[in-house]
Amino acid sequence: MSGFSIDWLDLREAADGRARDNALRDQAMRWLEVSGSSHQNPVVVDLGAGTGSTLRALTSPTQHLPTWRLVDNDAALLAEAERRHGATHHIEPCIADLASLSALPLDGARLITASALFDLVSEHFIGALATALKAQNQQHPVGLYAALNYDGTTHWTPRHPLDDAVLAAFNQDQRTDKGLGPALGPDSGAVLQRLFTQAGFRVYSASSPWVLDGADQAMVTELITGIAGAVADNPDIEPSSLEDWVQFRLSKVSTGTCTVGHTDVLALPF
Ligand SMILES: C[S@@+](CC[C@H](N)C(=O)[O-])C[C@H]1O[C@@H](n2cnc3c(N)ncnc32)[C@H](O)[C@@H]1O
Repeated sequence: MSGFSIDWLDLREAADGRARDNALRDQAMRWLEVSGSSHQNPVVVDLGAGTGSTLRALTSPTQHLPTWRLVDNDAALLAEAERRHGATHHIEPCIADLASLSALPLDGARLITASALFDLVSEHFIGALATALKAQNQQHPVGLYAALNYDGTTHWTPRHPLDDAVLAAFNQDQRTDKGLGPALGPDSGAVLQRLFTQAGFRVYSASSPWVLDGADQAMVTELITGIAGAVADNPDIEPSSLEDWVQFRLSKVSTGTCTVGHTDVLALPF
């Protein structure tokens, strides 16, 4: 168990789908198609794959190619991905801890993908990944498509006096170690762009915010609860004020709005 439930991943998937930058996603898909002549069956390695959200975003149900090597340390999520896609896609599930980067099955990949992952990892991890992919480029050109990297911004309407303090505390929590070193949290998009540029890739980026309203109230309810849990131990937030914030936010889930910033990044070799 990774702490990411199937229910939560399902709940956010529609908002993720609307948020992804279409131009960057299409460019990533074209990068795979261009490989068709030299690699009949290109391989995508999806890091932190969960139940296969990136696969669903980049393929149609009738599209058998490419091969999807789904990497995650949560066996239950990978089993769900296989249950959903094993009959229609070529899936290679791989239970692995991203902490052991050198042991990850990146060999021969045309594209490395990840969604909502890199805010959990450290700068060291991204640097090591950029170095590994740069080395791999000598044999097989490989790109990186990293979508939905949280950028540290959240805007609510209507406003509540504690919004800024809660966001600051939440962003502090985002930077704590999630098992892969000090997490980048809000800096992940910028660090991806910097380190892949330094490693010699062409790097593209685009904003990909969640734009949530009353139609997303089940997801927003979970989001409020999750944020409150993450900041509950922060000494800068009074428990009674937090409770007031939670009650106010829950009372507005059907009429208010919430925008959470993300950045999508695509890095392709020259
Ligand atoms: C926020 S979820 C995103 C899942 C999926 N990419 C999506 O967009 O729905 C993060 C994923 O990273 C995986 N993960 C977190 N830490 C990991 C680690 N150390 N090794 C492998 N997978 C990890 C979790 O199990 C989870 O599936």
